[in-house]
Amino acid sequence: MKIGIDKIGFYTPHIFVDMEKLAVARNVEPAKFTIGIGQSQMSVAPATQDSVTLAANAALEIINDEDREKIDFVIFGSESGIDHSKSGAVYVHHLLGLNPNARAVELKQACYAATAGIQMAKGHVALNPESKVLVLGTDIARYGLNTSGESTQGAGAVAMIISANPRIMELDNQNVYLTNDIMDFWRPIYSDKAFVDGKFSNEQYILFFNKVWEAYKDKSGLELKDMEAICYHLPYTKMGLKALRTVLDDAPEEVKERLLENYQISTIYNRNVGNIYTGSLYLSLLSLLENKELKDSSRIGMFSYGSGAVGEFFTGILQPNYRQHLNLEGHQQLFNSRQEVSVEEYERIFEETLPADGSDIEFDISRDPATIVLSGSLENKRQYVNKNR
Ligand code: COA
Repeated sequence: MKIGIDKIGFYTPHIFVDMEKLAVARNVEPAKFTIGIGQSQMSVAPATQDSVTLAANAALEIINDEDREKIDFVIFGSESGIDHSKSGAVYVHHLLGLNPNARAVELKQACYAATAGIQMAKGHVALNPESKVLVLGTDIARYGLNTSGESTQGAGAVAMIISANPRIMELDNQNVYLTNDIMDFWRPIYSDKAFVDGKFSNEQYILFFNKVWEAYKDKSGLELKDMEAICYHLPYTKMGLKALRTVLDDAPEEVKERLLENYQISTIYNRNVGNIYTGSLYLSLLSLLENKELKDSSRIGMFSYGSGAVGEFFTGILQPNYRQHLNLEGHQQLFNSRQEVSVEEYERIFEETLPADGSDIEFDISRDPATIVLSGSLENKRQYVNKNR
């Protein structure tokens, strides 16, 4: 039985900051951010968006009434969850009006959790071929104002339906995964900003990629020439390129050219959104699929990395007419309707969070065009609104 990605949706907040302007404000050469890091715009989450609303808005794009009935498992992958106990999946399940006979859980392992969610979903569908699983990768990346990680922030979510007979991509089973206890990026319970050893995390990302790629080649018998493209977890768009370059020497010239060209296409969306942690690899896949017409049956390599650290390499096969099941127009509209905010405005929005002492607050939701928003907090409970219900 084929199992894989049947639908894929995406959401990012309606405001962004221009990276050249951020560079000027930080006294940095703009080319460092646009070329050295490889980012042009950075999505900014207003106080009315959190990991729950981002995920719910991404899912809203893809689910219909049949999905509402058939989804019996919601997996919420996030680094920026909103509660130490209750899963974001339960909120999303309610906001979308899904069938009550469903499981709902949250998974955490930095930027890797959505990949773990997909693998769990595959197992569930293998045992229950009629089921559909909603997998969410949703995050707001926060390093802090004036930090070295600031240029690699972002906000957004990817939602996927994993099912039998998928219409977009069949996922194969020769995955290779690797875990090692390292401190390259972490976020203690008391902090709403990440701690990072930037250079070390870059090194480890590449080391993990090299290890899982070598093991994948041995396990599958496949090589670079068998990959139409390789998509990467993209904390910033230069990162995947650094990893890809380390293996290209083995490849014939035409394979090298193809992988480099497709790599650039796979970074178009991420370059204008920034890091969305768990959703980042799948945003890169979406960027590739929507911005280039690839042949049916093409094999796409996928490298997932979550600091701390877990890495995984796997591949998927594009299904016949997969492009008919994408939403290129909707995503172009999402990007075109975004509004730029100044660096000063971004700094103000960055500091506007829910009160840390749990006191009540009500936000003005009229300025956020998203369908699902956070309207505030009452008696220590986040208040969500689905404007369509
Ligand atoms: N024009 C073009 N490129 C320039 C430049 C200029 N004027 N100035 C600097 N650069 C290049 C540097 O040469 C470097 O490129 P390289 O990495 O290919 O050598 C790049 O811009 C970044 O410069 P660097 O001095 O290394 O940046 P930094 O010390 O400010 O930190 C990160 C960069 C990525 C380490 C930092 O943003 C970070 O910690 N990010 C979060 C962690 C992360 O994303 N980890 C990834 C694994 S998940």
